[in-house]
Amino acid sequence: MTPYDGAAPDGVVTVAAPAKVNLTLHVVGRRDDGYHLLDSLVAFADVGDLLTFRAADDLTLTVDGPFADQVRDLGEANLVLRAARALAAKAGIVPKAAIHLTKGLPVASGIGGGSADAAATLIGLMELWQLELLPSDLIELGLALGADVPVCLRGRATLVGGIGDVLNPAPNLPPCWLLLVRPGVPLSTPAVFKARDGEFSSAYPLTKRPADVQELVGALKIRRNDLTDAALSLAPVVGEALAAIEAAPGCLLSRMSGSGATCFGLFADEAEARAAADSIASAHPDWWVVPASLIS
Ligand code: C5P
Repeated sequence: MTPYDGAAPDGVVTVAAPAKVNLTLHVVGRRDDGYHLLDSLVAFADVGDLLTFRAADDLTLTVDGPFADQVRDLGEANLVLRAARALAAKAGIVPKAAIHLTKGLPVASGIGGGSADAAATLIGLMELWQLELLPSDLIELGLALGADVPVCLRGRATLVGGIGDVLNPAPNLPPCWLLLVRPGVPLSTPAVFKARDGEFSSAYPLTKRPADVQELVGALKIRRNDLTDAALSLAPVVGEALAAIEAAPGCLLSRMSGSGATCFGLFADEAEARAAADSIASAHPDWWVVPASLIS
């Protein structure tokens, strides 16, 4: 899946919105406005939402897919519509497009579903409306929609700093497999940041290219996700998900993504990632369990 598949001959623009995975997340400070300063290695998995954009006389959004019910009733609060209106306002035009969203990612899950949708909307509508924006303006527009939107605009492994607005290319990551596991509960990002206590961490960006999966795992293990304890205090089931992933044969690392509750396992081997998915899904039918390869 590529982030942008281009305009088809019939004028339909199709853009993928892949799941974001925080392979590491250090909380390194807090600004006066309450936003936290982060140091995070963000990667993307080849699973996610899909959006299409067509020319129309007004702005509409239709949704389908396994998690459509979670976004259908948001109305104008939907990040897709907010992104469309913000882009049109920036360009000084009236927003007109028929947007369709296939929602494959659960919401409020730490894998950036809403942010990925907003980023895909900006990319898709820039193509449909033939707009050109300075990269800095695009990042500013994205940041106003959500702290994860700028990195989702890049859609590939990135070293994220600031509150999500400082982006530097990550070294190439080796091919590997992820198992995404979201135990039944949604978690509110502000609530998790609020529940975090203790000292701030130091930034520790991964700058050296890992030669293989073992080296990547070694580098990840000396870093962490600083929001894990806060998420566990609000949703102890996160601990069950981490333990289930950790126990799977072939799992090299298990960790929470973002503010949770989605956790991931890292695998060198596709068959082992798929076997782990089957066994965790059958033991926990109410959990969302998906194997995916890392977008390199
Ligand atoms: O920007 P976004 O809507 O994703 O952030 C939701 C909330 O998460 C913010 O209002 C803030 O409470 C918290 N947050 C934070 N520091 C960040 C990102 C988010 O404190 N870097």
